[in-house]
Amino acid sequence: MKDYKIVICGGGSTYTPGIVKNLLDVKDELAIRELWLYDIDGERQDRVARVVQAVVDANDPGLPLHVSTEPSEAFAGADFIMAQMRVGGLPMRIKDEQISLKHGVVGQETCGAGGMAYGMRTIFPMVELIDTCEKYAAPTYWIVNYSNPAAIVAKATYKLRPNARILNICDMPVEIEARMAEILNCPLSNLEVDYFGLNHYGWFTKVRCRGVDVTEQLKAHVREHGYLAAASMDDALVKDPDWAHTFKNSATITSLFTDYLPNTYWQYYLLPDACVAYMDINNTRGMQVVNGREKRVFAASDALARGEQIDLTQFYVGVHGAFIVDVVKSLAHDLRHRRLVIVPNNGAIENLSDDATVEVPAYLTDRGPEPVRVGAIPRFYKGLIEQQDACEGLIVEAAIEGSYEKALQAFTLNRTIPSAAVAKAVLDDMIEANQGYWPELR
Ligand code: G6P
Ligand code: MN
Repeated sequence: MKDYKIVICGGGSTYTPGIVKNLLDVKDELAIRELWLYDIDGERQDRVARVVQAVVDANDPGLPLHVSTEPSEAFAGADFIMAQMRVGGLPMRIKDEQISLKHGVVGQETCGAGGMAYGMRTIFPMVELIDTCEKYAAPTYWIVNYSNPAAIVAKATYKLRPNARILNICDMPVEIEARMAEILNCPLSNLEVDYFGLNHYGWFTKVRCRGVDVTEQLKAHVREHGYLAAASMDDALVKDPDWAHTFKNSATITSLFTDYLPNTYWQYYLLPDACVAYMDINNTRGMQVVNGREKRVFAASDALARGEQIDLTQFYVGVHGAFIVDVVKSLAHDLRHRRLVIVPNNGAIENLSDDATVEVPAYLTDRGPEPVRVGAIPRFYKGLIEQQDACEGLIVEAAIEGSYEKALQAFTLNRTIPSAAVAKAVLDDMIEANQGYWPELR
């Protein structure tokens, strides 16, 4: 069996130990020759790497783990690059959230003003990663990118590097599918969905369990309880009160708009006032991650340095990591697994322009995704999607052209922002906070 050099770009992420566990879970199906962690923040990465080494020791002791901040060695001959960069780190995530909330608008990692700010920070580092892979990686490399904000990043990479071997993905749909599986008491592997939209902005149009259409039954449950069932309460993500609240919130949207089942992220766009009321400027999601997941990983790393034993299972990420690894496997072995991925539209949604950046089911082959044609979509959904796709496209153009006005247009078009005046006020504060990260806007 062919073996692969795999690089995790953004090795210092608190998710890395979990992702590595998912990789090692399938070591018999995806042979790893060398595993590399790469990050621009060497100190942070070294702390996380100590936990990753413990995961390797426990699951595949012979596997060579390398840790590097030098692109020429980390990416040399790489077959798969799993990209999970967070430009500006969690401190900038928190700024995005707080600046937005200060202006009374949704303060969120990928949606609204925070998402657009994060997008402006990430576009060029992502392009740089592609260029680095073109230079050093194996000619058949694949970047499996789940760096956020995935919608804007995908749009930028498809526009600026159309021939790059990059596949942009997001785990949210599959996390929702896991909740659906719990509601239906149907194994996740027997569930199949139809879906259309943009990333963090899509709808499930059909859900089948073992080939049987269960959409209406599922809608009835979600209208009542959101994406939560008794069986969900054991899930690590649902145990997080913020995530439980998010899964529950889909009840309102499913009651208002009855055609399809929503992605959880619709709460920010369709119920922004309720979201702002729920959010706490002194305890944003980013702050919760710093005080929760990040603290736990660093404490585990320190304990390992003192020679103590730690409980590694607390870092295992389940569905989300398994999905990412399955995408890698499918690209490596031409498995043609049907997964939701982010692709240039090119007719997948019949009545949207070709250059829209859509999230739809696709068969994953060793030559990349073969998207499914989902047909034409009704006016309400088309209107929502065209507005948001224009917003995201304008952020990409603003970054490329250094255009203040296009950035202002993007902020104004975003559904979470009520007026051009608010858009300008938030944008001006974001420019100030992002000095050194954003391209200069004139
Ligand atoms: C989901 C989304 C990701 C996002 C993450 C945030 O998994 O698909 O795009 O990054 O949630 O989770 P967190 O626990 O960091 O708020
Ligand atoms: Mn996502």
